[in-house]
Amino acid sequence: MQKPKIFVTHVFLGKFVEKLREKYDVVVWQGRDISREDLLAGVKGATGIISLLTEKIDDEVMEAAGPQLRVISNYAVGFDNIDVPAATKRKICVTNTPGVLTESVAEQVIAFTLALYRRVVEGDRLIRSGKYKGWEPDLLLGTGVKDKIMGIVGLGRIGRWTARMSSALGMKVIYFNRHRDEEFEEEYSIAHHTFDQLLEQADVVSLSVPLTNETRHMVGERELKLMKPTALLINTARGPIVDQNVLIKALKEKWIAGAGLDVFEDEVHVPEELRALSNTILTPHTASATIEARMAMAKIVVENIADAIEGRQPSCLVNPDVWQQKTD
Ligand code: GLV
Ligand code: GLV
Repeated sequence: MQKPKIFVTHVFLGKFVEKLREKYDVVVWQGRDISREDLLAGVKGATGIISLLTEKIDDEVMEAAGPQLRVISNYAVGFDNIDVPAATKRKICVTNTPGVLTESVAEQVIAFTLALYRRVVEGDRLIRSGKYKGWEPDLLLGTGVKDKIMGIVGLGRIGRWTARMSSALGMKVIYFNRHRDEEFEEEYSIAHHTFDQLLEQADVVSLSVPLTNETRHMVGERELKLMKPTALLINTARGPIVDQNVLIKALKEKWIAGAGLDVFEDEVHVPEELRALSNTILTPHTASATIEARMAMAKIVVENIADAIEGRQPSCLVNPDVWQQKTD
């Protein structure tokens, strides 16, 4: 019998999927940045697809794969690149990699907070520019972190770990989430606020919500104007949660003091205007890029795909309705 095909969209994942070869015909796309055309051709006949967050997996891709497609295993915690309702309709499992990149992403939030307040990147740039002329008492005066208010938007795993670390730094923590978690509030002495109250009070606003229709441009002109002029905005979630053009204006006109951005509206085109701002730290979507997280993500991606094809409910299924339909 012919082995079922698994199509893997990126060469990086090739080494992690080796053990699937015993049971599956694993086809790994050998380049990077697979084109739409190559994606549509590559998935043809696949029972499983392993995808990256940069690939749009919509109904057309599912159609191109064919009716035998059982599972799309996304190498990311976010799955906004996948048309989940379309997959559910076709009884295709969609899986992600939650839990294992929580600390990595939250650490990046803290790294941005410390680096912005303590002007680490500006200091580095000054020395590299050759313009540093020796110690001065008021050179690159920063701001202390202790007693500042960390405002966490979205209390998922990442938001919770950010809350714990912020508390450990002596920050006061407030959060906004659709659902309150009173136990967590008590355990970590953190307070729930409405979104507007959080924006008005926080010294650092950190976004840890997924990108959905509800969160798209959740931070725009009104929200940035509610923030304190001394406040920082940190986005390690998804670029389109923030209206980037308005953010650029807000940073230029000093409605807020600075930003730490790991994600952008269009990741390969970070605008020159944003790159020119000194009160901003920009990183290339590397908040989850630790060895620990990447290895664990790969392990989960492989487990998810094998489970779904071999009839076990994957532990990271984002559309459990599909499993319900199967077992009914
Ligand atoms: C990273 O952005 C992820 O969603 O895993
Ligand atoms: C991601 O793992 C989250 O729940 O925040």
